[in-house]
Amino acid sequence: MLAALIDGDYKRFEFDDIDVLLFREGGNLYAIEDLCTHDGAELCGGLYTNGEIECPRHGARFCVKTGQALSAPAYGQVSTFPVRVNDQGTVEIQLTVD
Ligand code: FES
Repeated sequence: MLAALIDGDYKRFEFDDIDVLLFREGGNLYAIEDLCTHDGAELCGGLYTNGEIECPRHGARFCVKTGQALSAPAYGQVSTFPVRVNDQGTVEIQLTVD
């Protein structure tokens, strides 16, 4: 899976209760919930540049590393999830944080 994700790009993954976007930036991986905190739109499909994703509905931008909202009309942070690559090279996303 990691090889399929080129640097500067992202992919969407659907799990039981949550949809996640996985970003690859500068060799690092970041995962956020695919849910805009302004009005609940999917962030997937939004323009992704310089570590920021733009909501396709109203244009709010979010930092994919911290989840922080960077521009109106969103002010709330999107959920972020720890990501690692295990010894077998599989990407693991921790969807719950203790
Ligand atoms: S729903 Fe994302 S900016 Fe409005």
